[in-house]
Amino acid sequence: MNKEKRTAVIAGNWKMNKTPSEAKALVSAIAERAAGKCGCEVVLCVPYVDIPAAVEAAAGTDVKIGAENVHFKESGAYTGEVSAAMLVECGVTHVIVGHSERRQYFGETDTTVNLRAKAGLAAGLTVIICVGEVLEQRQSGITSEVVSMQTKLALAGISAEELKKVIIAYEPVWAIGTGLTATPEQADEVCGIIRGVVAELYGDECAEALTIQYGGSMNDKNAAELLAKVNVDGGLIGGASLKPDAFGAIIDAAQ
Ligand code: 13P
Repeated sequence: MNKEKRTAVIAGNWKMNKTPSEAKALVSAIAERAAGKCGCEVVLCVPYVDIPAAVEAAAGTDVKIGAENVHFKESGAYTGEVSAAMLVECGVTHVIVGHSERRQYFGETDTTVNLRAKAGLAAGLTVIICVGEVLEQRQSGITSEVVSMQTKLALAGISAEELKKVIIAYEPVWAIGTGLTATPEQADEVCGIIRGVVAELYGDECAEALTIQYGGSMNDKNAAELLAKVNVDGGLIGGASLKPDAFGAIIDAAQ
């Protein structure tokens, strides 16, 4: 396997945390911690209203700013939504789509995840597509089927060229915010399954180049072991991304 061919991406997902002034301080603290660590890309995905402050604080540093969602229409009567062009103009480079919290609480479906991914890509954003099984699915032994299906549906209509700006995040839902982390072996196995699906769809070369992250209670203690796995090319980190020291230690583990 060609882990060296891939860019490791350590991304924070702040979820619904931090006001703009707090965001400014946190981005600065993380940027200081990330300075000169060129073994991975560092991205912070922040709430929409924090984006201007975060982009300003990240200017001239190694940290990139992402959003946590994007709407799939270019403009129009979609109250409360934000378009890809709006994000780009604000200086955003990355966007998360299909996070399990969006799927669980906000009616996100595989179809809308696909539409959002395509809209982000069309605007030139790097799209972090989240997939992952819930506990009952793992216990029923259908993790591989669930994650493969989510991956295929999310990538429908996305070209091999566009795939270069796709990151897939494997986030087992049972591991998110619970302190229950997948074992490095479980994470590696499912990230490998996702890579296999991508190989089927786009060929081996595209699959080998694809960054696949693990997310779900990744922290300063378990990151090194998870990131050492051949199919795990980075992390999508919730809770620990709000703590500069813990997030900094995860960045260190990715070097
Ligand atoms: P935690 O790291 O808090 O478990 O969250 C993971 C996650 O949902 C990242 O998108």
